[in-house]
Amino acid sequence: MTAKHKYAVFVSGRGSNLRAMFEANKDGRLSYKPSLVVTDVAAAPALECARENGVETLFIDPSVHKGRRAFAERALPELRKRGIDTVCLAGFMRIVDKSLVEAFSGRMINIHPALLPAFPGLDAQKQALEAGAKESGCTVHFVDDGVDTGPTIMQVKVPVLEGDSVESLSSRILAQEHRIYPEVIQALMEDRIIVSGGTVKMSPPARSGPR
Ligand code: GRF
Repeated sequence: MTAKHKYAVFVSGRGSNLRAMFEANKDGRLSYKPSLVVTDVAAAPALECARENGVETLFIDPSVHKGRRAFAERALPELRKRGIDTVCLAGFMRIVDKSLVEAFSGRMINIHPALLPAFPGLDAQKQALEAGAKESGCTVHFVDDGVDTGPTIMQVKVPVLEGDSVESLSSRILAQEHRIYPEVIQALMEDRIIVSGGTVKMSPPARSGPR
C-alpha cells in the first residue's frame, strides 16, 4: 500500500528529534519514515543521522539562497517533485517564509520546548528559568506565519525543579519531545488531526485486531 502522505523534516542542528522519529519507526510507534531531511547547515549532526537511516538529505545554502523567500523558492520544488505534502520542523533555526507556510497549510508542524504561548522564540528553557516558572514543557503546533503562534496540537508539562539549570531542564523537556513528536506525526499522517476555528482535535488511532 502506498502512503497517502509523505513528510520532510527540516533541521539545523543536533537532530535528537529526528533520531527519535527513527527510533519510533523501529519500535512501531511511527509507521512512516521521513522522505527527505532538509537543512540550512551543511555540517548539522542531524544529517549524519538521516544518512545512517538511509534518508535523502538536501542542503540549501542560505548564503546562496539569501533570505526566507529565496530559501522557500529553492525548497518548494524539491518537496513537490518528491510528492512531499507534510513538513515537520525539528530544530530548524530559521523563520519559514509565508509562501512555504501557505503551500503546506495545515500540514506543517513544529516542536517547541515550552508550553506555548509562554516562552516563544529562542532560549525557551532559559526564559522559563528566568521567569521563575514552576513548570514548563513542550508543544507541538501547526506553523502559521507568526513565530511559534500556530494552533497547539499537543502539549506536555514538565516541572521546573529547584536548582534546575538550562541543561537539566532542557534534557527533561527533550525526553517528552521525543515521545510526543512521533505520536503527533503518526496522527498527522493518518489524517487524525482536525483544526477548526483555531481548536485542534486529535483522534486516537483506529483499533487494530479483533474487537
Ligand atoms: C528542540 O528542543 C526543539 O524543541 C527546538 O529545537 C530543539 C531541537 O533539538 N525547536 P534537536 O536538534 O531535535 O536535538
